Amino acid sequence: MEIDTKTLVSLLQAAMSADYTQVRRAANILSKRLLDAKDVDSAKAIQAVVRKKGVPLQASGYVERLPVDAGTRLPLLEEGSAPTTPLILDESAGHVVAQFIEDATHHDQLEQAGVDAPIRLLMFGDPGTGKSLLASHIAAQLGRPLYIARLDALISSRLGETAKNVRGIFDFIPVRNAVLFLDELDAIAKLRDDRQELGELKRVVNAVIQGLDTLTNDVIVIGATNHPHLLDPAIFRRFPYKLELGPPSEGTRAEMWRTFLRLHAHDMPDAETLARLSEGLTGADIQNISLSARRRAVLDKTDLNLPNILLALLSSRRGSPSLLDSRKLTSDDKRQLAVTLHDRAKLPVTDIARLVGVSRQMAHRYLKGEDGEIDG
Ligand SMILES: Nc1ncnc2c1ncn2[C@@H]1O[C@H](COP(=O)(O)OP(=O)(O)OP(=O)(O)O)[C@@H](O)[C@H]1O
Ligand SMILES: [Mg+2]
Repeated sequence: MEIDTKTLVSLLQAAMSADYTQVRRAANILSKRLLDAKDVDSAKAIQAVVRKKGVPLQASGYVERLPVDAGTRLPLLEEGSAPTTPLILDESAGHVVAQFIEDATHHDQLEQAGVDAPIRLLMFGDPGTGKSLLASHIAAQLGRPLYIARLDALISSRLGETAKNVRGIFDFIPVRNAVLFLDELDAIAKLRDDRQELGELKRVVNAVIQGLDTLTNDVIVIGATNHPHLLDPAIFRRFPYKLELGPPSEGTRAEMWRTFLRLHAHDMPDAETLARLSEGLTGADIQNISLSARRRAVLDKTDLNLPNILLALLSSRRGSPSLLDSRKLTSDDKRQLAVTLHDRAKLPVTDIARLVGVSRQMAHRYLKGEDGEIDG
């Protein structure tokens, strides 16, 4: 990566004036640049330094005063760190994100022309589809701090306190030039069932709506929910940009397998095979299986174990997410794999034999339904 002098200068300036918020911000920009340049290790190294924020912060007597819950004294917001995982999105989702970032970057220009809208993005999608990751990428891309409010954590058992907590967030945010991330937005809606107290629900929904309405347009807001249909329509409407994150497409899955397994370009056909067989898995599923495969490879001092990755993948698809174990495959496993690779991935026998780790003759036998007991 080329040296980014502007960020470097602002980093030094921040360090000399002991402004650790600014230090973290500059570090986040740097690590995001490294991530874009596919230098994941350097990005992680920077994040590891920044995460030890307790040390310099306390040494300097600097503590950022985040708003807290009156009862528990727990902070209502946390400052997110820059992502260390690259974001891999379908083309259409990537397009929405790019446009959102472009509009956010050129908001002044749009405002002058009288065509601006509040820069607010509502994301919905199943758990593990990358909503939280995307929020941190957007903040990093814009070079702004990310403040995360988990709405489920704001809900207080004391009547009236939840709405107060919501107001606490919106009082804190305006002057931060930040990205506010309202995570688990549907938690508000669930108040209705938990409390059987419509008055409280209304108060909280109103506090969110009023809070959003008081924010100036330079505050960027991202909301996330697993259940968009539970969301109050008035809140829904206050997010002009919307993005549904569905299960990743086959091409996106291939890129995920390649990235998370750290496959080389010449192993791309294997990533494509894995992609073809992993329909319905989320980015989080693919990352979990990949990481567990790499852990086994490190500890067993071996190469990646593709047959076991395939088995873990198939079992996740059947609805029982499983991490990889490095047990030896039984001949039943091998037959099942061979048949799946043949029927669903349409692979030629040579590839099936290689992936399952048997001879071509044996692969043929599996496919013909003959038993393979004699194969070791
Ligand atoms: N599109 C993606 N690209 C890269 N990594 C992904 C993607 N989706 C998920 N992941 C991986 O899975 C992890 C979990 O995803 P994330 O926490 O962003 O999901 P989420 O949609 O916020 O889920 P939840 O609804 O449970 O909060 C991420 O940190 C990342 O490592
Ligand atoms: Mg999340």
